[in-house]
Amino acid sequence: MKIDIIISADDIKKEKIENKTVVVIDMLRATSVIVTAMNNGCKGVIPVLTVNDASSIVRNSKEDFMLGGERNALKIEGFHYSNSPLEYTRETINGKTLVMTTTNGTKAIKGCTCASSILIGAMINAKAIANRLVGLNKDVVIVNAGTNGEFSIDDFLCSGYIIDCILNLQKIEMSDIATTSHYIYKNNEDIHSFIKYANHYRTITKLGLTADLEYCCRKDIIDIVPEYLDGIII
Ligand code: MLT
Repeated sequence: MKIDIIISADDIKKEKIENKTVVVIDMLRATSVIVTAMNNGCKGVIPVLTVNDASSIVRNSKEDFMLGGERNALKIEGFHYSNSPLEYTRETINGKTLVMTTTNGTKAIKGCTCASSILIGAMINAKAIANRLVGLNKDVVIVNAGTNGEFSIDDFLCSGYIIDCILNLQKIEMSDIATTSHYIYKNNEDIHSFIKYANHYRTITKLGLTADLEYCCRKDIIDIVPEYLDGIII
């Protein structure tokens, strides 16, 4: 198994991901939301690019969808939920289908449709992702959503942790960027010592959402691996 990393949603290239297993990571916070919602009984998450796309799905369907996501890290007007994973409890999301749009996370997921499978990863389900990748035993590209087309420390650290979990199970071949993410993780295993330098971490801190940061940085509290299949994450 060979592991490579793409550093932002804007850097996804068809030839790099075609027929590979992809893991999309936006640990602050979109993929942490998806993993949490699915773990709390959400029926499925439909990622979309724009607020209009989200609204028209809801308008044109008889199903009772919930709307979630953010712009500028804040709740979108008229939506049920923001992009805080702590809002997606069993009480609020069990049995419901979520239509979701976020700035970088849903864009990264939708950019990967030519991959052979698209798994949704975060710090909170990293070990489960590693176990699934070992089971699939195919080449892997970890797609970091990044922030507005740029590299972001948070997703890169999370990639390094997933790689570390795989290395505890078997040997792998790594691209230089994959080796670098693992090296950085190994030197910052507590996460907080390095993730605090991420621009998006600072944005979320300024908004007073420190409970979200605490939650998203926890390791392996969830044991499921959501997968994006035919337009919906199940
Ligand atoms: C995104 O998709 O850009 C993020 O999840 C932003 C956020 O933290 O709300």
